[in-house]
Amino acid sequence: MNPNAKIFVTGHRGMVGSALVRQLNAEGYQRIITRSRDQLDLLSQTAVTEFLATEQPDYVFIAAAKVGGIQANNQYRADFLYQNLMIEANLIHGAHLAGVQRLMFLGSSCIYPRDCAQPIKEEYLLTGPLEQTNEPYAIAKIAGIKLAESYNRQYGREYISVMPTNLYGPNDNYDLANSHVLPALLRKAHEAKLRGDSEYVVWGSGTPRREFLYVDDLADACVYLMKQGYAGPLLNVGTGEDVTIRELAETVMDIVGFEGRIVFDSTKPDGTPRKLLDVSKLAALGWRARTSLRDGIRLAYDSAPFRA
Ligand SMILES: NC(=O)c1ccc[n+]([C@@H]2O[C@H](COP(=O)([O-])OP(=O)(O)OC[C@H]3O[C@@H](n4cnc5c(N)ncnc54)[C@H](OP(=O)(O)O)[C@@H]3O)[C@@H](O)[C@H]2O)c1
Repeated sequence: MNPNAKIFVTGHRGMVGSALVRQLNAEGYQRIITRSRDQLDLLSQTAVTEFLATEQPDYVFIAAAKVGGIQANNQYRADFLYQNLMIEANLIHGAHLAGVQRLMFLGSSCIYPRDCAQPIKEEYLLTGPLEQTNEPYAIAKIAGIKLAESYNRQYGREYISVMPTNLYGPNDNYDLANSHVLPALLRKAHEAKLRGDSEYVVWGSGTPRREFLYVDDLADACVYLMKQGYAGPLLNVGTGEDVTIRELAETVMDIVGFEGRIVFDSTKPDGTPRKLLDVSKLAALGWRARTSLRDGIRLAYDSAPFRA
């Protein structure tokens, strides 16, 4: 990307979009365009098409999406399907009409079949049934991958779809009703410390294994890939390493400085025993994550809004 390239980052107030803007700023890109939802509702096809035709960006990052935890995904199934389909269709088609040659679509590891082999390879897409609780969201994301792939095949575009593993970092969602496991553990440990609790309750048995990527590492990977291009239909982005929820909770407690003991609430569901992305394709392209889980959690804790 030339330093003068005009780059449109959607969802710039979110965790991923804000990390992309930080990364692009750090690399010296000067012409980054952002619009809040009030200024440009990505659900409006007319507004998005007109905006892209007028602005003529050189690159587009789709980090805008309707995102949420299991409960929200399950409860608001129509909203998750409809809004994600509209956002990606409006942006991908609008970018194509505006002559944008390179675009990046952010998906998620939940697009893969519920019971697929581990670590998860890109080829496993569409080889089995999806997890039911977030099926509408996953279907929308799969449609986005297929849209990008189809514009590449039919029109020679270079639209890249990346599938990040679980992310965490600045601007994460710490609302306990709707947050992912790592931000929830961080907040619960912090509050347990403030209250002087002797115990810290963690949902499930503590044995499932999960992978976590610091969001600034993801942004680094996205900009790296946008610069060099990627011809495949989709690409996993992760660390290639996983930890048990027990190990995660212990690291969180250590960083927060909570000295009580962990209690596992086995009445709460564990979910799938293991979820790890195979990142060998990404490694072959010359990229690997740099931030260790411990360093990343420390950075996330330092920037957490509940500490303000
Ligand atoms: N978080 C994770 O662990 C994770 C893991 C894998 C993949 N991803 C993917 O990364 C992408 C971004 O996720 P995130 O965690 O950064 O989500 P996020 O923090 O919720 O940010 C999403 C952003 O999209 C914007 N947005 C949503 N609907 C919009 C609309 N109609 N018009 C304009 N803007 C709209 C939101 O704007 P408002 O601020 O106005 O709401 C928000 O800024 C998603 O595609 C997600 O699937 C995330």
